[in-house]
Amino acid sequence: MNTPNTDDAYVYEPFAQTVEYLKINEAIVRRWVEAMLEGGSKHIERIVDLATGVGTMARLLIENLPPNIKPADVVCVDMSGRALEQAGENLKAQVNHLTLVKTPLQELSLEPQSVDVAIWGNGVHYLSSEDQMKTFSNIRRALKPGGWFCFNSAFYEEARPPKTLSFYRSQVATAVRNLRSRGFSRDKSEHSPESALYLPLSHYQDLLAQAGFQVEEIRNFVAKMYRSAWEKISAFSQYAAGALHGYPTDAAAEALEAAVAPSLEQYGERDENDEPFIPRNWFSAIARAK
Ligand SMILES: C[S@@+](CC[C@H](N)C(=O)[O-])C[C@H]1O[C@@H](n2cnc3c(N)ncnc32)[C@H](O)[C@@H]1O
Repeated sequence: MNTPNTDDAYVYEPFAQTVEYLKINEAIVRRWVEAMLEGGSKHIERIVDLATGVGTMARLLIENLPPNIKPADVVCVDMSGRALEQAGENLKAQVNHLTLVKTPLQELSLEPQSVDVAIWGNGVHYLSSEDQMKTFSNIRRALKPGGWFCFNSAFYEEARPPKTLSFYRSQVATAVRNLRSRGFSRDKSEHSPESALYLPLSHYQDLLAQAGFQVEEIRNFVAKMYRSAWEKISAFSQYAAGALHGYPTDAAAEALEAAVAPSLEQYGERDENDEPFIPRNWFSAIARAK
């Protein structure tokens, strides 16, 4: 299993602060809220934010729920103590009763049928299929019957539209030339980490069914990602480890970041202001405990 180390939440943070990231995640969270309301949810006592990072998804959910159904009780789970500390700071003004739980998700144990809504933003792809299954089952047990489980990710088989593949190829080829020119070579014995495994949406659909969920909706959202967002995600060590495994991660991250501008210039689509961008798909999954 590939798990990020404790400091990764902090290297990820600059990307998580970009307009693109916040915009797409807010659009997805709004859809989750809409589905809950359409599905008749009137009371949400307790929510759990899995792999909370610095609490971004919990914050977006709380901000987008109608005032009459704000949860009293929020549980944030992450394996990084530093991320949880930051989540606590970011959420304390909005939440009456906040609990921070430091554990790998696959070992999470919550009181059965005690949770109304579980969300898992931008993190499911870090776990092996086996650990995803364990986590889905843990969540299923913790949810009340009819409770909601919503998650999303931009790392899956359908995330990169075929027309955008030339951008990724160019970025990697440019970064490899840069690394070689600086004397780095690839360690071919190193395996690709889990975060580089782009599993298809059908995998998540199957997992949900096996864990005893009713799938309500799985769909793609599209984010227009501009230069700064690409530079920030490329500088994130988990991303670099996936895109250029076998090279020293810090050097790979630097090289990928430097390769963004020329690759985007050559292969990006242009918006109305002639700014280049690459569209990236983000899936959103909404399920209910049977
Ligand atoms: C990319 S961040 C996402 C943060 C936040 N949910 C968001 O959507 O912005 C992923 C988070 O997952 C956590 N994480 C990764 N694998 C984990 C695991 N197996 N158990 C618990 N936390 C994990 C990391 O520590 C990190 O804080």
